[in-house]
Formats: sequence, structure tokens, C-alpha cells
Amino acid sequence: NAIYRAGVLGRRPSVPTDPERLERRARRAMSARARAYVGGGAGRGETMRSNREAFGRWRIVPRMLHGVTARDLSTTVAGTHLRAPLLLAPVGAAGLIRPNSDVAIATGAAAAETAYVFSNQGGDPMEHTARAMGDTPFWYQLYWSTDEDLVDSMIGRAEACGARALVVTLDTTMLGWRTQDLDLGSLPFARGEGIAQYTSDRRFADLVAERIAAPTGRPPTTVTLGAIRTLLAMSRAHPGRFLDNLRSPVPRASVETFLDIYSNPGLSWDHLATLRGRTSLPILLKGILHPDDARRALDLGVDGIVVSNHGGRQVDNAIASLDALVAVRAAIGPEPTVLLDSGIRTGADVFVALALGADACLLGRPHLYGLALAGADGVRQVIENVIAELDLTMGLVGVPDLASITPDVLVPTRP
Ligand code: FNR
Repeated sequence: NAIYRAGVLGRRPSVPTDPERLERRARRAMSARARAYVGGGAGRGETMRSNREAFGRWRIVPRMLHGVTARDLSTTVAGTHLRAPLLLAPVGAAGLIRPNSDVAIATGAAAAETAYVFSNQGGDPMEHTARAMGDTPFWYQLYWSTDEDLVDSMIGRAEACGARALVVTLDTTMLGWRTQDLDLGSLPFARGEGIAQYTSDRRFADLVAERIAAPTGRPPTTVTLGAIRTLLAMSRAHPGRFLDNLRSPVPRASVETFLDIYSNPGLSWDHLATLRGRTSLPILLKGILHPDDARRALDLGVDGIVVSNHGGRQVDNAIASLDALVAVRAAIGPEPTVLLDSGIRTGADVFVALALGADACLLGRPHLYGLALAGADGVRQVIENVIAELDLTMGLVGVPDLASITPDVLVPTRP
């Protein structure tokens, strides 16, 4: 393939193909805040580590002389046709890495014809990101707000933009214990990153106006260090409106409103009972780790689940995502749609996840590292590398298509 041919001709890619080298180089290219936010996990990072260790418990057993010259990686997941069983995971506040991050990621994803799940806490309004996707399909990820009208507004906008599915993330009803961000004093959103979906929303504007009209606590004109930082962040995002921002208490009220309503710590199955009736889009629930939760999700009438521990960013000492996948698939049988993320770094990882029952995988941190090193083209290269390795692995193991990646291509390293 093209990546190999370039290598044979002695051309060096601008983004390393090895995931550890990719991460190391990207970490050097990022600010301390971005490094902590993107690379950090919850607590001591045990969950993040076990996500990787779980892959080490499985080994692929290649078969010889199988006569496989061409592989078909394509698949359809929750009604979306995919070139390969890979989508980009939703990532919020990626504006910490570079401005207009979501549009850049979308541009890279579209160049690699790969679906992208837009984050509810994106760095660009979803309408802009959708334009950058062109004809390549995208999904929308939602955090369930305490304001039900905001939930409907976000779903309505995602539908209007052309999203092909809705992913509701369940595992972040509160932000996890992010030690790296806490120790730097730089939790995300502190400077207004990741709130573009909200500040571009009509329902959200009403909520901000209510807060300004009936301020709680401090009067809105008090200038705090946080307010100045927010103003500076907003002025970078909207240069023409800098003076307006200076005269207005809106930015601060926006951030405060966002922090109050972006998620719902009391979220329960009851809240989701109305979900199926709120949209005609396919729905997936993200963050499932227990087989009983998987069953319950499917009882709600959703179209699929995403087995994920949020890249180890929420609960430390949590079960590895790949281990949870095995138990979930055993509980719900072969039919329901199951995606997996948390720990996917290479095409060989995708192969193992598929063999253990995933229909497709979401790629998280690696695409952000590509973004940090080479912008949209870095995102494209990272995607192409993962897909190329998956293709090669299939060819060398002897499977012509995804349906042939069954559990018997693997052995456990320990009984
Ligand atoms: C995330 N993740 C995430 N998930 C989600 O549903 N909405 C979001 O806004 C975010 N934001 C976010 C930001 C950053 C910087 C990271 C690294 C992750 C979780 C993401 O979708 C996915 O579950 C993990 O990234 C998978 O873990 P790995 O493979 O990146 O380790």
C-alpha cells in the first residue's frame, strides 16, 4: 500500500507509525495543560494502564497458505457504512491542543473517509464541524444536561446538521478525579474551552440570560481572574467580538451556566426512558462496563452500546475495557451492536477487539496526538496507519473479511 511504498522509497512520515513514539513526540509538542488534559487519567492512572495490559492477555495465531490477496474491511454499524471498523472517538476541549481543533479533526477524518463522533464539549460549533466532514458520515455525542430543553435542542441541531447517530455518554455525570489537571490548577473549561456547542445554542443563551437577569451570588460585573481568562479565550475564538466581550458579563455567565448544567450527577435509567422517543436517529449508549447494564440498555430499545471506561479518565482501578467487552458480549449474544474504546492504539488492537466481539472501535488519544504534531493531516495519517495495519494483519493471519475475525484466531496468554 501507499504507506509501505513511501517507506521503501525512504520517505519518513511526519507522524510516527509507532504509537509510543507518536505519543512521546506529541507530548513534547503540547503545552503543559494540554499534556495533562489529553494524556492524563483518573487517580493514579491504573485504569489507563490496565486498558493496555488487557490487550497483552491475548495473542493472535496466524494461519498459513490461506490464499487471501484482498481484504474487505468495510462494515455497517448502526446504519452507517464504514470503510473500516474504526471511528474517531468524541473528545471535548481539544481546543487546548490547537484552535479550531474539531474542524481540523473533521478535515483529517474526511480525508481518511472515516466517521467522527463529535463531542458535546467540542471546540467548534457542530454546524462548522459538520461542514468540514463533507460527505463523510458523522455521529453526535451527548452529555445529558440537567436542562431537558437543552437536551432536545442539542439533539435537534445534531439531526439538522446531518448526524447519522446519537451517542449518549453515561460515564461522566461528574468529571473524574483528574489528578494531573488538578495539580496544575487547570481543569478543562477553566478558560472556556469545550463550550462551543453551548455558546452556539439558543436554549443555552436563554439560560445564560436568565442567570444574568437574576444573578446568584456575586454580581456579574465583578471582574475576577477567571473572568479575564475567559474573556481572553473568547477573544481568541471570536476576534471581532473582543470589545463586545469586554463590555459584557456574558462570557463569565456562560462558563458558570455551563458548569452548572452540562451534565446531571443524578442521571438514572428513568431519565433515559424518554430517549428513544426523542429522536429517530440510531442511539448508542457509551460507557457500559457491566453485562447487566448492557442488557438494560438494549431493553430501552437503543441500537447499540459502546463498551468504554472513557480512556481511564473517570474511575481509577476500574475494569479494563477489553475485559468488560468479553463479559458484555457473552451476556447479550452475537447480534447487538457493540463498539469498544479505551486502549486502542494500533490496527492489531482493533483486530483483537473484533475477535473478542466488538463490531468496531473508537480511536481516542492517538488521533489527538496526530493533531498535535501535524494538524488535520496528522489526524489523517494516524487513521490511515491504524487501518493499514489492520488490513495487513488480516492478510497475514488469513482472514478475508471482518466476519471471519472470530474468537478462535486468539489464544489467551494465561489460562
Ligand atoms: C475524551 N473522551 C470523551 N468522551 C465523550 O463521550 N465525550 C467527550 O467529550 C470526551 N472528551 C475526551 C477528551 C479527551 C482529551 C480524551 C482523551 C477523551 C473519551 C473518548 O471518547 C474515549 O472514550 C477515550 O479517549 C478512549 O480511550 P483512549 O483510547 O484514548 O485511551
